[in-house]
Amino acid sequence: MRHSFWRGKKVFVTGHTGFKGSWLTLSLLQQGADVYGYALPPLQQSDLYHVANLTEVMGSQFGDIRDLTKLQSAISSYKPDIIFHLGAQPLVRASYDDPIETFSTNVMGTVHLLEAARQVDSVKTIINVTSDKCYENKSGVQKSFVESDPMGGHDPYSASKGCAEIVSSAYSRSFYGKNGKFIASARAGNVIGGGDWSKDRIIPDFIRAILNQETMTIRQPKSIRPWQHVLDCIHGYMLLAEKVWTEQEAYVGAWNFGPSAKAFKTVEQLIECSRSYIDRAVDIHYSTTEGPYEAGYLVLDSGKAEQRLGWVSKLTFSDAVKWTMDWYDGYLSGLDMTQVTSNQIRNYHLL
Ligand SMILES: NC(=O)c1ccc[n+]([C@@H]2O[C@H](COP(=O)([O-])OP(=O)(O)OC[C@H]3O[C@@H](n4cnc5c(N)ncnc54)[C@H](O)[C@@H]3O)[C@@H](O)[C@H]2O)c1
Repeated sequence: MRHSFWRGKKVFVTGHTGFKGSWLTLSLLQQGADVYGYALPPLQQSDLYHVANLTEVMGSQFGDIRDLTKLQSAISSYKPDIIFHLGAQPLVRASYDDPIETFSTNVMGTVHLLEAARQVDSVKTIINVTSDKCYENKSGVQKSFVESDPMGGHDPYSASKGCAEIVSSAYSRSFYGKNGKFIASARAGNVIGGGDWSKDRIIPDFIRAILNQETMTIRQPKSIRPWQHVLDCIHGYMLLAEKVWTEQEAYVGAWNFGPSAKAFKTVEQLIECSRSYIDRAVDIHYSTTEGPYEAGYLVLDSGKAEQRLGWVSKLTFSDAVKWTMDWYDGYLSGLDMTQVTSNQIRNYHLL
Protein backbone atom coordinates (compact mmCIF):
# COMPACT_ATOMS: atom_id res chain seq x y z
CA MET A 1 0.00 0.00 0.00
CA ARG A 2 1.31 3.46 -0.87
CA HIS A 3 0.98 5.39 2.37
CA SER A 4 0.88 8.71 0.53
CA PHE A 5 -2.22 7.59 -1.38
CA TRP A 6 -4.61 8.07 1.53
CA ARG A 7 -3.31 11.41 2.76
CA GLY A 8 -6.14 13.94 2.40
CA LYS A 9 -8.54 11.52 0.64
CA LYS A 10 -12.16 12.00 1.69
CA VAL A 11 -13.57 8.61 2.60
CA PHE A 12 -17.18 7.78 3.49
CA VAL A 13 -17.63 4.56 5.49
CA THR A 14 -21.00 2.94 6.12
CA GLY A 15 -20.99 0.70 9.20
CA HIS A 16 -18.19 2.67 10.91
CA THR A 17 -19.70 1.95 14.33
CA GLY A 18 -19.29 -1.82 13.81
CA PHE A 19 -16.34 -4.13 14.32
CA LYS A 20 -14.74 -4.05 10.87
CA GLY A 21 -15.86 -0.49 10.17
CA SER A 22 -14.07 0.80 13.29
CA TRP A 23 -10.82 -0.96 12.35
CA LEU A 24 -11.09 0.32 8.79
CA THR A 25 -11.77 3.87 9.98
CA LEU A 26 -8.81 3.81 12.37
CA SER A 27 -6.55 2.39 9.64
CA LEU A 28 -7.66 5.10 7.19
CA LEU A 29 -7.16 7.84 9.80
CA GLN A 30 -3.69 6.53 10.58
CA GLN A 31 -2.85 6.82 6.87
CA GLY A 32 -3.95 10.48 6.86
CA ALA A 33 -7.41 10.12 5.27
CA ASP A 34 -10.37 12.28 6.27
CA VAL A 35 -13.19 9.89 7.22
CA TYR A 36 -16.94 10.40 7.61
CA GLY A 37 -19.15 7.58 8.89
CA TYR A 38 -22.80 6.66 8.45
CA ALA A 39 -24.33 3.82 10.49
CA LEU A 40 -26.72 2.95 13.28
CA PRO A 41 -25.51 3.99 16.75
CA PRO A 42 -23.05 1.59 18.40
CA LEU A 43 -24.77 -1.10 20.43
CA GLN A 44 -22.70 -0.99 23.62
CA GLN A 45 -20.08 1.04 25.49
CA SER A 46 -17.48 -1.69 24.94
CA ASP A 47 -17.67 -1.28 21.13
CA LEU A 48 -14.40 -0.33 19.48
CA TYR A 49 -16.11 2.82 18.23
CA HIS A 50 -16.34 4.01 21.85
CA VAL A 51 -13.23 2.49 23.39
CA ALA A 52 -10.99 3.87 20.61
CA ASN A 53 -12.72 7.30 20.88
CA LEU A 54 -13.75 7.44 17.23
CA THR A 55 -16.29 10.18 17.95
CA GLU A 56 -13.43 12.55 18.66
CA VAL A 57 -11.44 11.96 15.50
CA MET A 58 -14.03 11.73 12.72
CA GLY A 59 -17.25 13.23 11.44
CA SER A 60 -20.21 10.92 11.57
CA GLN A 61 -23.94 10.61 11.42
CA PHE A 62 -26.24 7.98 12.87
CA GLY A 63 -28.76 6.89 10.27
CA ASP A 64 -30.32 3.90 8.57
CA ILE A 65 -29.08 2.92 5.10
CA ARG A 66 -32.70 2.18 4.25
CA ASP A 67 -33.44 5.89 4.67
CA LEU A 68 -32.51 6.94 1.13
CA THR A 69 -33.09 10.67 1.69
CA LYS A 70 -30.89 10.82 4.77
CA LEU A 71 -28.15 8.71 3.18
CA GLN A 72 -28.24 10.81 0.01
CA SER A 73 -27.98 13.99 2.03
CA ALA A 74 -25.02 12.63 4.06
CA ILE A 75 -23.09 11.66 0.92
CA SER A 76 -23.90 14.80 -1.03
CA SER A 77 -22.94 17.09 1.88
CA TYR A 78 -19.63 15.32 2.59
CA LYS A 79 -18.63 14.87 -1.10
CA PRO A 80 -16.36 11.86 -0.62
CA ASP A 81 -13.76 10.58 -3.09
CA ILE A 82 -14.09 6.95 -1.98
CA ILE A 83 -16.85 4.95 -0.27
CA PHE A 84 -16.51 1.70 1.67
CA HIS A 85 -19.89 0.06 2.21
CA LEU A 86 -19.86 -2.15 5.32
CA GLY A 87 -23.23 -1.28 6.90
CA ALA A 88 -25.17 -4.52 7.07
CA GLN A 89 -26.94 -7.06 9.25
CA PRO A 90 -23.96 -9.48 9.37
CA LEU A 91 -25.13 -12.49 11.39
CA VAL A 92 -26.48 -15.80 10.08
CA ARG A 93 -28.53 -16.59 13.21
CA ALA A 94 -30.10 -13.12 13.32
CA SER A 95 -31.04 -13.57 9.67
CA TYR A 96 -33.11 -16.65 10.57
CA ASP A 97 -34.83 -14.64 13.32
CA ASP A 98 -35.61 -11.66 11.10
CA PRO A 99 -35.12 -12.32 7.38
CA ILE A 100 -36.96 -9.15 6.33
CA GLU A 101 -34.61 -6.95 8.36
CA THR A 102 -31.62 -8.78 6.87
CA PHE A 103 -32.77 -8.59 3.24
CA SER A 104 -33.96 -5.00 3.50
CA THR A 105 -30.71 -3.83 5.12
CA ASN A 106 -28.28 -5.87 3.05
CA VAL A 107 -29.97 -5.72 -0.33
CA MET A 108 -31.96 -2.46 -0.39
CA GLY A 109 -29.27 -0.82 1.75
CA THR A 110 -26.76 -1.59 -1.01
CA VAL A 111 -29.17 -0.33 -3.69
CA HIS A 112 -29.60 2.92 -1.73
CA LEU A 113 -25.87 3.38 -1.29
CA LEU A 114 -25.11 2.85 -4.98
CA GLU A 115 -28.03 5.03 -6.00
CA ALA A 116 -27.02 7.86 -3.64
CA ALA A 117 -23.35 7.65 -4.71
CA ARG A 118 -24.37 7.81 -8.37
CA GLN A 119 -25.79 11.30 -7.82
CA VAL A 120 -22.62 12.77 -6.25
CA ASP A 121 -19.89 13.90 -8.67
CA SER A 122 -16.98 13.65 -6.24
CA VAL A 123 -17.37 9.88 -5.70
CA LYS A 124 -14.99 7.90 -7.91
CA THR A 125 -14.49 4.56 -6.15
CA ILE A 126 -16.84 2.30 -4.19
CA ILE A 127 -15.85 -0.85 -2.34
CA ASN A 128 -18.87 -2.99 -1.54
CA VAL A 129 -18.05 -5.37 1.31
CA THR A 130 -20.01 -8.60 1.02
CA SER A 131 -18.90 -12.02 2.29
CA ASP A 132 -17.46 -15.42 1.40
CA LYS A 133 -20.99 -16.66 2.10
CA CYS A 134 -22.30 -15.03 -1.10
CA TYR A 135 -21.41 -18.17 -3.09
CA GLU A 136 -23.76 -21.04 -3.86
CA ASN A 137 -22.23 -23.50 -1.40
CA LYS A 138 -23.78 -26.92 -1.99
CA SER A 139 -23.57 -29.07 1.13
CA GLY A 140 -21.24 -32.05 0.82
CA VAL A 141 -19.29 -30.47 -2.05
CA GLN A 142 -15.80 -29.35 -1.04
CA LYS A 143 -14.47 -26.71 -3.34
CA SER A 144 -12.41 -23.61 -3.36
CA PHE A 145 -14.48 -20.66 -4.60
CA VAL A 146 -13.20 -18.37 -7.32
CA GLU A 147 -14.78 -15.01 -8.07
CA SER A 148 -16.63 -16.25 -11.16
CA ASP A 149 -18.52 -18.97 -9.23
CA PRO A 150 -22.32 -18.57 -9.02
CA MET A 151 -23.91 -16.53 -6.25
CA GLY A 152 -26.33 -18.29 -3.91
CA GLY A 153 -26.78 -18.75 -0.19
CA HIS A 154 -28.87 -21.17 1.85
CA ASP A 155 -29.70 -18.97 4.84
CA PRO A 156 -31.12 -15.42 4.55
CA TYR A 157 -27.82 -13.73 5.47
CA SER A 158 -25.78 -15.63 2.86
CA ALA A 159 -28.49 -15.10 0.23
CA SER A 160 -28.64 -11.38 1.04
CA LYS A 161 -24.90 -11.10 0.42
CA GLY A 162 -25.27 -13.00 -2.88
CA CYS A 163 -28.01 -10.48 -3.78
CA ALA A 164 -25.80 -7.54 -2.74
CA GLU A 165 -23.18 -8.83 -5.17
CA ILE A 166 -25.72 -9.04 -7.98
CA VAL A 167 -26.95 -5.51 -7.18
CA SER A 168 -23.42 -4.17 -7.30
CA SER A 169 -22.67 -5.93 -10.57
CA ALA A 170 -25.90 -4.60 -12.13
CA TYR A 171 -25.13 -1.03 -11.03
CA SER A 172 -21.59 -1.38 -12.28
CA ARG A 173 -22.73 -2.55 -15.71
CA SER A 174 -25.75 -0.28 -16.05
CA PHE A 175 -24.66 3.06 -14.62
CA TYR A 176 -21.08 3.12 -13.43
CA GLY A 177 -17.83 3.13 -15.44
CA LYS A 178 -19.13 5.48 -18.10
CA ASN A 179 -19.90 8.03 -15.35
CA GLY A 180 -16.28 8.00 -14.13
CA LYS A 181 -17.15 5.97 -11.03
CA PHE A 182 -16.01 2.39 -10.46
CA ILE A 183 -17.26 -0.35 -8.10
CA ALA A 184 -15.48 -3.40 -6.76
CA SER A 185 -16.77 -5.89 -4.21
CA ALA A 186 -14.75 -7.62 -1.52
CA ARG A 187 -15.51 -11.10 -0.20
CA ALA A 188 -13.81 -12.19 3.02
CA GLY A 189 -14.30 -15.00 5.49
CA ASN A 190 -14.55 -15.39 9.24
CA VAL A 191 -12.76 -12.43 10.67
CA ILE A 192 -11.35 -12.22 14.18
CA GLY A 193 -9.81 -9.31 16.04
CA GLY A 194 -10.24 -7.15 19.10
CA GLY A 195 -13.35 -5.10 19.71
CA ASP A 196 -15.93 -7.48 18.27
CA TRP A 197 -18.84 -7.97 20.70
CA SER A 198 -21.38 -9.43 18.24
CA LYS A 199 -23.89 -12.00 19.40
CA ASP A 200 -23.28 -15.59 18.31
CA ARG A 201 -19.70 -15.10 17.19
CA ILE A 202 -17.08 -17.41 18.66
CA ILE A 203 -14.48 -14.96 19.95
CA PRO A 204 -16.94 -12.45 21.46
CA ASP A 205 -18.80 -15.37 23.12
CA PHE A 206 -15.46 -16.66 24.46
CA ILE A 207 -14.59 -13.27 25.96
CA ARG A 208 -18.09 -12.89 27.44
CA ALA A 209 -17.67 -16.32 29.06
CA ILE A 210 -14.48 -15.04 30.71
CA LEU A 211 -16.08 -11.75 31.77
CA ASN A 212 -19.26 -13.32 33.15
CA GLN A 213 -17.55 -16.47 34.46
CA GLU A 214 -20.07 -18.60 32.59
CA THR A 215 -19.67 -21.93 30.81
CA MET A 216 -19.34 -21.43 27.06
CA THR A 217 -21.10 -24.03 24.92
CA ILE A 218 -19.53 -24.46 21.50
CA ARG A 219 -21.87 -25.63 18.78
CA GLN A 220 -20.37 -27.45 15.81
CA PRO A 221 -16.82 -27.56 17.25
CA LYS A 222 -15.53 -29.61 14.31
CA SER A 223 -16.66 -27.08 11.67
CA ILE A 224 -13.69 -25.82 9.71
CA ARG A 225 -13.53 -22.08 9.05
CA PRO A 226 -11.02 -19.83 7.32
CA TRP A 227 -9.96 -17.62 10.24
CA GLN A 228 -8.44 -14.31 9.36
CA HIS A 229 -7.33 -11.29 11.35
CA VAL A 230 -9.39 -8.16 10.72
CA LEU A 231 -6.26 -6.20 9.75
CA ASP A 232 -5.49 -8.62 6.90
CA CYS A 233 -8.98 -8.13 5.61
CA ILE A 234 -8.88 -4.31 5.98
CA HIS A 235 -5.52 -4.22 4.24
CA GLY A 236 -7.13 -6.03 1.28
CA TYR A 237 -10.04 -3.55 1.13
CA MET A 238 -7.67 -0.57 1.18
CA LEU A 239 -5.34 -2.02 -1.47
CA LEU A 240 -8.35 -2.72 -3.66
CA ALA A 241 -9.69 0.83 -3.28
CA GLU A 242 -6.30 2.25 -4.20
CA LYS A 243 -6.14 0.10 -7.33
CA VAL A 244 -9.69 0.89 -8.41
CA TRP A 245 -8.97 4.59 -7.90
CA THR A 246 -5.80 4.56 -10.00
CA GLU A 247 -6.51 1.82 -12.58
CA GLN A 248 -10.32 2.12 -12.70
CA GLU A 249 -11.96 -0.37 -15.12
CA ALA A 250 -9.14 -2.93 -14.78
CA TYR A 251 -9.98 -3.54 -11.12
CA VAL A 252 -13.79 -3.45 -11.04
CA GLY A 253 -15.72 -6.60 -10.09
CA ALA A 254 -15.31 -9.12 -7.31
CA TRP A 255 -12.28 -9.97 -5.18
CA ASN A 256 -11.76 -12.78 -2.67
CA PHE A 257 -9.70 -12.09 0.44
CA GLY A 258 -9.33 -15.40 2.26
CA PRO A 259 -6.59 -16.61 4.56
CA SER A 260 -3.96 -19.15 3.51
CA ALA A 261 -4.86 -22.85 3.73
CA LYS A 262 -2.86 -23.04 6.97
CA ALA A 263 -5.45 -20.82 8.68
CA PHE A 264 -8.27 -23.30 8.04
CA LYS A 265 -8.92 -24.60 11.52
CA THR A 266 -11.83 -26.04 13.43
CA VAL A 267 -13.82 -23.97 15.91
CA GLU A 268 -12.31 -26.15 18.64
CA GLN A 269 -8.76 -25.35 17.49
CA LEU A 270 -9.62 -21.64 17.54
CA ILE A 271 -10.91 -21.89 21.09
CA GLU A 272 -7.96 -23.90 22.36
CA CYS A 273 -5.48 -21.53 20.70
CA SER A 274 -7.32 -18.53 22.21
CA ARG A 275 -7.22 -20.17 25.62
CA SER A 276 -3.46 -20.64 25.30
CA TYR A 277 -2.94 -16.90 24.67
CA ILE A 278 -5.14 -15.43 27.39
CA ASP A 279 -4.24 -16.13 30.94
CA ARG A 280 -7.78 -16.13 32.33
CA ALA A 281 -10.07 -18.89 33.55
CA VAL A 282 -12.82 -20.06 31.17
CA ASP A 283 -15.04 -23.12 31.19
CA ILE A 284 -15.78 -24.63 27.75
CA HIS A 285 -18.37 -27.25 26.82
CA TYR A 286 -18.16 -28.77 23.31
CA SER A 287 -21.70 -29.59 22.14
CA THR A 288 -22.65 -32.52 19.94
CA THR A 289 -26.16 -31.27 19.06
CA GLU A 290 -26.75 -29.65 15.68
CA GLY A 291 -27.77 -25.97 15.37
CA PRO A 292 -29.63 -24.51 12.37
CA TYR A 293 -28.05 -25.23 8.98
CA GLU A 294 -24.71 -23.49 8.40
CA ALA A 295 -22.45 -24.35 5.49
CA GLY A 296 -19.71 -26.54 6.96
CA TYR A 297 -16.66 -25.73 4.90
CA LEU A 298 -15.99 -22.58 2.97
CA VAL A 299 -12.73 -22.01 1.17
CA LEU A 300 -11.90 -18.90 -0.79
CA ASP A 301 -9.35 -18.96 -3.58
CA SER A 302 -7.60 -15.60 -3.21
CA GLY A 303 -5.17 -16.13 -6.09
CA LYS A 304 -6.57 -13.14 -7.98
CA ALA A 305 -5.94 -10.72 -5.07
CA GLU A 306 -2.50 -12.21 -4.50
CA GLN A 307 -1.43 -11.91 -8.12
CA ARG A 308 -3.07 -8.63 -9.11
CA LEU A 309 -3.09 -6.66 -5.86
CA GLY A 310 0.01 -8.19 -4.28
CA TRP A 311 -2.18 -8.94 -1.24
CA VAL A 312 -1.42 -11.78 1.17
CA SER A 313 -2.54 -12.56 4.69
CA LYS A 314 0.40 -11.33 6.73
CA LEU A 315 -0.66 -12.86 10.05
CA THR A 316 -0.56 -16.62 10.56
CA PHE A 317 -3.49 -18.30 12.33
CA SER A 318 -1.53 -18.33 15.57
CA ASP A 319 -0.53 -14.64 15.25
CA ALA A 320 -4.09 -13.66 14.38
CA VAL A 321 -5.38 -15.35 17.54
CA LYS A 322 -2.56 -13.89 19.65
CA TRP A 323 -3.18 -10.33 18.43
CA THR A 324 -6.89 -10.80 19.12
CA MET A 325 -6.32 -12.12 22.64
CA ASP A 326 -3.75 -9.36 23.32
CA TRP A 327 -6.41 -6.79 22.44
CA TYR A 328 -9.06 -8.31 24.73
CA ASP A 329 -6.52 -8.82 27.50
CA GLY A 330 -5.69 -5.11 27.24
CA TYR A 331 -9.38 -4.28 27.41
CA LEU A 332 -9.99 -6.53 30.42
CA SER A 333 -6.93 -5.03 32.14
CA GLY A 334 -8.23 -1.46 31.64
CA LEU A 335 -5.46 -0.32 29.24
CA ASP A 336 -5.85 2.69 26.94
CA MET A 337 -7.53 0.95 23.99
CA THR A 338 -6.96 3.81 21.55
CA GLN A 339 -3.27 3.20 22.11
CA VAL A 340 -3.51 -0.61 21.97
CA THR A 341 -5.54 -0.51 18.74
CA SER A 342 -3.31 2.09 17.07
CA ASN A 343 -0.22 0.09 18.02
CA GLN A 344 -1.65 -3.05 16.43
CA ILE A 345 -2.41 -1.15 13.22
CA ARG A 346 1.08 0.42 13.20
CA ASN A 347 2.76 -2.94 13.90
CA TYR A 348 0.73 -4.57 11.14
CA HIS A 349 2.07 -2.11 8.59
CA LEU A 350 5.62 -2.81 9.75
CA LEU A 351 5.28 -6.53 8.93
N1 LIG B 1 -17.06 -10.06 10.79
C1 LIG B 1 -16.97 -11.02 9.88
O1 LIG B 1 -16.46 -12.11 10.16
C2 LIG B 1 -17.46 -10.77 8.46
C3 LIG B 1 -17.21 -11.76 7.50
C4 LIG B 1 -17.63 -11.53 6.19
C5 LIG B 1 -18.27 -10.35 5.87
N2 LIG B 1 -18.53 -9.41 6.82
C6 LIG B 1 -19.21 -8.18 6.40
O2 LIG B 1 -18.47 -7.05 6.84
C7 LIG B 1 -19.37 -5.99 7.14
C8 LIG B 1 -19.13 -5.49 8.56
O3 LIG B 1 -19.37 -6.55 9.45
P1 LIG B 1 -19.02 -6.45 11.00
O4 LIG B 1 -18.54 -7.77 11.41
O5 LIG B 1 -18.19 -5.27 11.25
O6 LIG B 1 -20.49 -6.23 11.60
P2 LIG B 1 -20.98 -5.31 12.81
O7 LIG B 1 -22.30 -5.83 13.23
O8 LIG B 1 -19.93 -5.17 13.85
O9 LIG B 1 -21.18 -3.90 12.11
C9 LIG B 1 -22.26 -3.68 11.24
C10 LIG B 1 -22.34 -2.19 10.97
O10 LIG B 1 -23.45 -1.97 10.08
C11 LIG B 1 -24.28 -0.99 10.65
N3 LIG B 1 -25.67 -1.22 10.25
C12 LIG B 1 -26.42 -2.33 10.45
N4 LIG B 1 -27.66 -2.12 9.98
C13 LIG B 1 -27.69 -0.86 9.48
C14 LIG B 1 -28.68 -0.06 8.88
N5 LIG B 1 -29.91 -0.52 8.66
N6 LIG B 1 -28.35 1.20 8.52
C15 LIG B 1 -27.10 1.69 8.73
N7 LIG B 1 -26.11 0.97 9.28
C16 LIG B 1 -26.41 -0.28 9.66
C17 LIG B 1 -24.11 -1.10 12.16
O11 LIG B 1 -24.54 0.10 12.79
C18 LIG B 1 -22.62 -1.34 12.22
O12 LIG B 1 -21.95 -0.12 12.13
C19 LIG B 1 -20.77 -6.53 6.89
O13 LIG B 1 -21.18 -6.17 5.60
C20 LIG B 1 -20.58 -8.02 7.00
O14 LIG B 1 -21.59 -8.71 6.30
C21 LIG B 1 -18.14 -9.61 8.11
